[in-house]
Amino acid sequence: MALWCLLVGGLVSIAAGSSPPRSFTSTNLINNVVRDPASGRVYVGAVNWLYQLDASLTLERHRETGPHKDSPHCTPPITSACPDPKETHNHNKLLLVHPTNGSLVVCGSLYRGICSLVNLTDVQQTLYYSDSKGEKTYVASTEEDVSVVGVLSTYTSPDQHRLDVFLVAKGYGPADGSKLISTRTLEEHADWVVFENIVEASTVQAGSFVQRYLHHFRHAFNESGYIYFLFSRTAGLGDKANFTFIARLCENDRHYYSYTELQLNCSHNNQYNKIQAAYVAPAGAELARHLTASGEHGEVIAGDQVLYGVFSSDEDSVGTSALCMYPLKSINRALKRVVSACYNNKGLIDGKVAVYLPYDTKERNHCEQQGDYQQKDLADIYQCGDEFLPSPLAGKAEFALPTTESFVRSGMFTAVSVAVETDHTVAFLGTKGGEVLKVHLTDAPYYYGCVPGDNTPSLMTFNL
Ligand SMILES: *[C@@H]1O[C@H](CO)[C@@H](O)[C@H](O)[C@H]1NC(C)=O
Ligand SMILES: *[C@@H]1O[C@H](CO)[C@@H](O)[C@H](O)[C@H]1NC(C)=O
Ligand SMILES: *[C@@H]1O[C@H](CO)[C@@H](O)[C@H](O)[C@H]1NC(C)=O
Ligand SMILES: *[C@@H]1O[C@H](CO)[C@@H](O)[C@H](O)[C@H]1NC(C)=O
Ligand SMILES: *[C@@H]1O[C@H](CO)[C@@H](O)[C@H](O)[C@H]1NC(C)=O
Repeated sequence: MALWCLLVGGLVSIAAGSSPPRSFTSTNLINNVVRDPASGRVYVGAVNWLYQLDASLTLERHRETGPHKDSPHCTPPITSACPDPKETHNHNKLLLVHPTNGSLVVCGSLYRGICSLVNLTDVQQTLYYSDSKGEKTYVASTEEDVSVVGVLSTYTSPDQHRLDVFLVAKGYGPADGSKLISTRTLEEHADWVVFENIVEASTVQAGSFVQRYLHHFRHAFNESGYIYFLFSRTAGLGDKANFTFIARLCENDRHYYSYTELQLNCSHNNQYNKIQAAYVAPAGAELARHLTASGEHGEVIAGDQVLYGVFSSDEDSVGTSALCMYPLKSINRALKRVVSACYNNKGLIDGKVAVYLPYDTKERNHCEQQGDYQQKDLADIYQCGDEFLPSPLAGKAEFALPTTESFVRSGMFTAVSVAVETDHTVAFLGTKGGEVLKVHLTDAPYYYGCVPGDNTPSLMTFNL
């Protein structure tokens, strides 16, 4: 049985498959890797290159994406009107498989983060690219260090047309537009052009907050009608400490009213405060039994989706990392508790203030001032896209979702991928130095495989 998983780190990317193990080495740093589940093909976004590999990692096609003459101060297209363009490297910022269109969404750091659509069976063929539609089509970040994540979804327009879209989240870069989260159409409709942001006027998009919280996005995924973003951010201006959050919004929420943030603590004193990478996969039977027995998450059954996250510690100068696991049921339960507190109990849980409004423009600090909304019936709360609250909610740190760390090791984990084989759940953890640890997740997780790092940007298949 061929099992696959992908892992993207600063230096290493792996894929777990049936024998024989294969590998692909890139000359440049690898930024992103995606796999098309339909064909098994793997797409690798590296600095200045895009590679298309078949299921056994043999190179099929590649195209050069940079360097090109560009300037962060110029509006694409770059013409003689641009005063001082320089040969600039193109960092891949986002890759998404768009199966119904037969295309791959590719966004780089050049030309204000404009994206293109390329043919899934031949990445040398560009299916859509336009650099003349202006700021509304700038998607990714021009900056190397600003992380960008995205996830495909669908959107029903006010005139009831279903559009293919993707949601993008990106951190703050001084030279970028400031939208934290946006919804980008993948097709023209009404006045909208491809890649235009079609959701406006949400407090989640307000610029000043983006800078204040220094978001570092690590993952985005959809599950059962919800979109989730995983990131670390600070608690506010002047506070440099990082905390990990998961944000959830309803897939059919046209205004992001349902956007809610929940803090995730990795270890009970939140020693591992900063998320580095995450993966969502079902729990195998053995892991489900262990998670149930831990008593931290209620009953977990085999097949339940679990968020596997690798976290680092800002306080630990030696650099210790941990793996923490959160069943999605547990995350949803904790989010529901926070939202319910706001509607039914003035934002209080056990007499304590449990929620705040991190992106509110007014000086409202919790739900008490929102009397009108509290009269709503609980059942209304989960009517996604309904007019919720004037500003998105976040649960306070005391009402974070904590879990005991599962696997701790010195060094920086930068990537995680998980595969389930019969009853067993196996995590592949990539480190900053390029090592890959193969960890069996049981009640006492242990690692039984380790590939030493050699600092080359490469992709490997693994036998389970
Ligand atoms: C993509 O390329 C393949 C192979 O060249 C071709 O058959 C197919 O029509 C192309 N798809 C699109 C949407 O152009
Ligand atoms: C995520 O969204 C895509 C596109 O709308 C859809 O095809 C897929 O089924 C969704 N996945 C889940 C797990 O909901
Ligand atoms: C793919 O999307 C592009 C941009 O919306 C569109 O021009 C093209 O017709 C689509 N192709 C297919 C095969 O759906
Ligand atoms: C928080 O994370 C940022 C990087 O995202 C880092 O520069 C900063 O030093 C971290 N804060 C602390 C207190 O370590
Ligand atoms: C989560 O961690 C924070 C410290 O970052 C702590 O103040 C808070 O009490 C923790 N929450 C829970 C529920 O353990």
